[in-house]
Amino acid sequence: MKTDEIVIERIGVTSAELCAELHSFSIEPAWDEDAFATLLQSPGVAGFIAMRTGVPAGVALIRIAADESELVTIATAPEHRRVGVAQALLEASCKCAREADAIAMYLEVAASNDGALSLYTGQGFSETGRRKGYYRRAAGAVDAVLLAKRLDNDEI
Ligand SMILES: CC(C)(COP(=O)(O)OP(=O)(O)OC[C@H]1O[C@@H](n2cnc3c(N)ncnc32)[C@H](O)[C@@H]1OP(=O)(O)O)[C@@H](O)C(=O)NCCC(=O)NCCS
Repeated sequence: MKTDEIVIERIGVTSAELCAELHSFSIEPAWDEDAFATLLQSPGVAGFIAMRTGVPAGVALIRIAADESELVTIATAPEHRRVGVAQALLEASCKCAREADAIAMYLEVAASNDGALSLYTGQGFSETGRRKGYYRRAAGAVDAVLLAKRLDNDEI
């Protein structure tokens, strides 16, 4: 991976439009600028943009509450995939949560999202449960897989 090209920047509400743009290439249904602005001003939410050779390439948001954290969203623009952008965003997200004294990070992902599942398990996340038929899609319902990672290096 050419991770030396990737720089992670902490963002605030002024980056809501950029977040929405990056999301629009990757997530269906994507969140709009207002949704990102609301999230980025919410207590405990931290946002990150990955710049790849000076170009915005990906976005991640986390929420930290007490000693827990949650990956709210993560997306890499299609032309910047498979070069380590999401991995760098996830590492920065876990570091931020750890520094805020969170002991674990949680997330959920569609069981059909093989790429994201591979990303998360490769970064030390383990399955903790499932929500049957959680995502209602045109092609049918898809389970949500619940994943977690200890941030203090213990297994969860
Ligand atoms: C999932 C997603 C965020 C991955 O972003 P990315 O920047 O391409 O991921 P990285 O380059 O950091 O990948 C790191 C590792 O994760 C795994 N991985 C990532 N995408 C993968 C894919 N499509 N298929 C298989 N493995 C994948 C690989 O192990 C990869 O390492 P490698 O490239 O050396 O094999 C991106 O495909 C995306 O934005 N998808 C649409 C939005 C989405 O599904 N978000 C997650 C919702 S929970």
